[in-house]
Amino acid sequence: MIAAAAFPLGALAAAQLVPYGRDHRNPPVVAETPWTSAEARDLAVAACYDCHSNETRWPWYSNVAPMSWLVQRDVDRGRDELNWSEGDDDFDDAAEAIADGSMPPRQYLPNHPAARLSDDEEAVLIAALEAMDERD
Ligand code: HEC
Repeated sequence: MIAAAAFPLGALAAAQLVPYGRDHRNPPVVAETPWTSAEARDLAVAACYDCHSNETRWPWYSNVAPMSWLVQRDVDRGRDELNWSEGDDDFDDAAEAIADGSMPPRQYLPNHPAARLSDDEEAVLIAALEAMDERD
């Protein structure tokens, strides 16, 4: 939204015509991750699934360039690294990314307050990921 203010109006209108970031059909869920509890899954959905699954919830601003391009880029790169709808099982890396605070990305939090996990919620999610890593 701040980026939009820097765009002259004509350019902003033209930007809406760029096809990148406009196709918000989610690919099918190929392999659901075997979460150890519904609570752990809910936390992952709240904090990670928008970028690391095929169940992305597209916010209204994801339809408006240039925000749409930034959102699309996050989702493309996020799914590429880790996709919990396609059987990725690097649970250990995910636990580490949460523990070291690198995920979810800081800039995602203001618009997604549910993704800001409390210490207790982080502990539940990390424990589930570690249990799944051991079972693997
Ligand atoms: C707003 C989108 C977004 C959300 C939400 C998000 N990620 Fe990511 N994630 C990315 C992107 C983009 C990358 C690849 C580029 C990078 O590493 O910054 C990534 C990379 C990763 C990686 C691989 C690289 C690394 O840091 O080890 C892991 C693991 C990961 N994310 C885990 C998670 C987990 C776990 C959550 C939820 C607690 C989460 N992410 C939430 C966008 C997101």
